[in-house]
Amino acid sequence: MSAKQLFVNAAQVVTCAGPARARRGAEMSDAGILFGAAVLAHGGEIMAVGPQDALRAAHEDAQTIDCDNGVLTPGFVDSHTHAIFGRARYEEQELRAAGVPYMEIARQGGGIHASVRDLRTRSEDALYALALPRLKALAASGITTVEVKSGYGLSLDDEIKSLRVVRRLAQVLPMRIVPTWLGAHEIPMDFRERPNGRREYLDLLINDMLPIVAREKLGRFADIFCEPGVFTVNESREILTSARDAGLGIKMHADELTAGGAAELAGELRATSADHLAAVSPEGISALASGGTVATLLPGTMMFLGKTAQAPARALIEAGVPVALATDFNPGTSPTTNFPLILTLGVSQLRLSVAEVITAGTVNGAAALALAGEVGQLAPGFSADLALWDVQDVRELPYWYGAGRCRGSWARGKPCHVHDLAVTLTT
Ligand code: NIG
Ligand code: FE
Repeated sequence: MSAKQLFVNAAQVVTCAGPARARRGAEMSDAGILFGAAVLAHGGEIMAVGPQDALRAAHEDAQTIDCDNGVLTPGFVDSHTHAIFGRARYEEQELRAAGVPYMEIARQGGGIHASVRDLRTRSEDALYALALPRLKALAASGITTVEVKSGYGLSLDDEIKSLRVVRRLAQVLPMRIVPTWLGAHEIPMDFRERPNGRREYLDLLINDMLPIVAREKLGRFADIFCEPGVFTVNESREILTSARDAGLGIKMHADELTAGGAAELAGELRATSADHLAAVSPEGISALASGGTVATLLPGTMMFLGKTAQAPARALIEAGVPVALATDFNPGTSPTTNFPLILTLGVSQLRLSVAEVITAGTVNGAAALALAGEVGQLAPGFSADLALWDVQDVRELPYWYGAGRCRGSWARGKPCHVHDLAVTLTT
């Protein structure tokens, strides 16, 4: 039996405690900040959060972890990454800066296609070796639950290879890893060039890939890039309903650059999340609200693409849509593993309050992965997933932008990342 752990001497404990579901509207403004509190964990679960003196007296046998006047938060939930890729795509930055649009780079065979050509040349072991330090970097920025998508394989073997890498990472790392099948990230170039290629690729996705992904439980969710020039709304409906029938949850890359009815479809299908949404229409916002779909906003992507547009976060919150924030870590549009930087962009670009970006990165990120009953809160019964920060006030988290102030993170009570902690961990 593992030892009890007592996290003491935190300047603030940010609990995000409340009902085990997504936060909407004004609920997002309550991050649950406690002073003088300690957190007791045992067997990978939070047992109690309460006054430090009382918890210390009642649990003298616990191993103490000295937070040294830092801020303790739930471990962040990064509900949208594409961490399985080969080489970086830094050459596209300058092309965009010179005025070539993202979609034009893709039409010329760059973008996602470039990552697909590259990933197909690499073995499962090679991809694993590349992904492992990336996931450790995510943990070092306070993330304890991460969603990881396939989507740079786009063939049966290469998609399965990518998802096997995700499974191996989940077996080795303490952080919680949620796999998503994104075989519908693009129509591969070879299929685009054939007369009936689109239909053939849809059939490959539905009849060949999906049954294996479902049977081998290689994907918890199915995702699709539903955008003019990539998959249409009707194609997305067909793929996602097949995925739902096969037992997978539904996510969508929706209305990222153009309002094309993707959010409306997400609402209609009651998707777990619709992501991006920088171009979402008022009708799309209403559909998300009635579908109970989490809007996962990815402000790092629009910033990195050099766009001034950002998702209408305030309108989404006012319409009662739960908003989550994620990195979109990927080689093309968001090569960052820095979660606090996303919080900064949430405040400065999406104009959210600090409490709103914190709930967006914890409880609502958990809801975007259908994990709202397990992670995202420091409350009894939740997984002992915590992050400790070298700041004295939670408002400093988005303030010191670009900085690495995570001093430690734990998932299920096990250290994911330990940096400059004042105690020696004995696990
Ligand atoms: O979320 N928009 C689609 N997919 C990724 C980018 C993929 C890429 O450019 O490699 C995204 O931004
Ligand atoms: Fe993405």
